[in-house]
Amino acid sequence: MNEYDLTGRIAVVTGGAQGFGRAIAERFVASGAKVAIWDHDIALAEKTAKEIGAEATAFKVDVTDLAAVEKTRDETLKAFGKIDILVNNAGIAGVNKTVWETDLEEWRKVLRINLDGPFICCKAIVPAMLKQGYGRIVNIASIAGKEGNPNAAHYSSSKAGLIALTKSLGKELAQHDILVNAVTPAAARTAIFDQMTQQHIDFMLSKIPKGRFVLVEELAALVAWLASEDCAFSTGAVFDISGGRATY
Ligand SMILES: NC(=O)c1ccc[n+]([C@@H]2O[C@H](COP(=O)([O-])OP(=O)(O)OC[C@H]3O[C@@H](n4cnc5c(N)ncnc54)[C@H](O)[C@@H]3O)[C@@H](O)[C@H]2O)c1
Repeated sequence: MNEYDLTGRIAVVTGGAQGFGRAIAERFVASGAKVAIWDHDIALAEKTAKEIGAEATAFKVDVTDLAAVEKTRDETLKAFGKIDILVNNAGIAGVNKTVWETDLEEWRKVLRINLDGPFICCKAIVPAMLKQGYGRIVNIASIAGKEGNPNAAHYSSSKAGLIALTKSLGKELAQHDILVNAVTPAAARTAIFDQMTQQHIDFMLSKIPKGRFVLVEELAALVAWLASEDCAFSTGAVFDISGGRATY
């Protein structure tokens, strides 16, 4: 494992209780950071934090609730004194249906968690980053946001929106040492698969030229670089990790 130096950095990883978020939290801690795991599944978040060790702390928060996010930001600042890194990772797949079969409430739920959530966390945390003059924000989007997966219009639209949020905020903060980037992974075998049909999982695998799912550790390595000082000139950018699926 190559090492990116995150010594002394404080990171918030939303949805860090499992899957990509947990792998990112583990990689950050291995790189010298302290991590606040923000997750609405507090039991799992606490178990994960305990397994990772003293450098990880669990906080219960629903990222769709601005007041709750502001409160958790304040608790995190009180506990650690600053927030250097924000990884907007919490997300859901939603139910796999065509556009015309999708319930309006289901559409709204996916948009609320996958797009409102990152907006709310950025809105709450960027002022603290501006005050300290440093920050790294990494948004976990998806190849679905570039290509638009059938039977996942809500999910694909939320991730396309997250890519646009990344580009807008990146430009707004470009004059500061606060970088905002997105990653667009192919599918990874995590608990999120439980929300999808087997047909949809098979479809996603069939689209990956490398012929396998991405490993959570592979994504964590890319995110660790984006969260480090080594990443200094890229902002508002989208980093592919789709096993060759992306053509742009
Ligand atoms: N696994 C994949 O195939 C894949 C591919 C591309 C992108 N992604 C994206 O990566 C991110 C993580 O996915 P994963 O596969 O690790 O999922 P996961 O289901 O394993 O983990 C998601 C975590 O987010 C938490 N969460 C969900 N809603 C929340 C909310 N409102 N507030 C706080 N926490 C909440 C869950 O409790 C869970 O711990 C998601 O944004 C997902 O869209 C996943």
